[in-house]
Amino acid sequence: MPSPLLSDATFRRLCQFVHQATGISLNEGKRSLVISRLTPRIQATRCPDFESYLDRLERDPSAPEVTAALNALTTNKTSFFRHPEQFEYLRSVLAASESRIRVWSAGCSTGEEPYSIAMVVRQHLSAHNVTDARILATDLSTEVLEIAKRGEYPESSLDDVPAALRRPYFDAAPGRPVTVKPSLRSLISFGYLNLNSTWPMRGPFDAIFCRNVMIYFTEATRAELASRFARLLRPGGALILGLTESLTTRPETLRHAMPSIFERI
Ligand SMILES: C[S@@+](CC[C@H](N)C(=O)[O-])C[C@H]1O[C@@H](n2cnc3c(N)ncnc32)[C@H](O)[C@@H]1O
Repeated sequence: MPSPLLSDATFRRLCQFVHQATGISLNEGKRSLVISRLTPRIQATRCPDFESYLDRLERDPSAPEVTAALNALTTNKTSFFRHPEQFEYLRSVLAASESRIRVWSAGCSTGEEPYSIAMVVRQHLSAHNVTDARILATDLSTEVLEIAKRGEYPESSLDDVPAALRRPYFDAAPGRPVTVKPSLRSLISFGYLNLNSTWPMRGPFDAIFCRNVMIYFTEATRAELASRFARLLRPGGALILGLTESLTTRPETLRHAMPSIFERI
């Protein structure tokens, strides 16, 4: 079936709609990606073209189809212990924590990031006299959150998990996906949260991971989110971005600690 038509004017309107709803900034370079990702939704809803599909989204921004469209448009690439040196940094932040540990994975995708955080936290708990630890893991995409909550992964995805951590934290059976053990799962609360909305949590967090999420946002949105993250960190707490990300505009309360890591002053 040929792709439905997308005029320049409708593409611009669509970019505005997505930006307002999520902060994600689409541009001409993303046009073919938008077409390939939304075409199945247009077909599923039997809309004749992009314009009428967009009319439908705009008519009711809280409709399930808006969620489906945003699920389709988000990029969810992730892996266990992605950028391992950042997890070493987390260890040093936890070492300075007192009796309560709180970490937020903002834009957690399919769960590999919060489960990696949970392994580091579990190791910390068993070495120190701390029992109160929680990890919050949030995302805009309801589809990835379902996968994250299931905690089932193909065995090959554990390649980046240090061998010593596999048996304690994953159940494996031949021919079946590996499953996260309850001891890890129980540390994490998964939930829907659009970063471009109001946030219910109060913090303070020891660390906030927001990696490979803000790359899709404008500079102004990144700066605003950085200030909001900074307010939720304890002094000495860390805002951890993706390895290639930086903050052109950063609040005075954040100090550059390492490439892509900022410490709350
Ligand atoms: C590329 S993944 C990054 C996953 C993980 N943080 C990592 O670095 O491996 C980006 C995630 O950000 C989420 N995301 C994009 N815009 C968002 C928003 N406005 N609010 C919350 N999550 C968002 C996407 O759904 C996606 O799962």
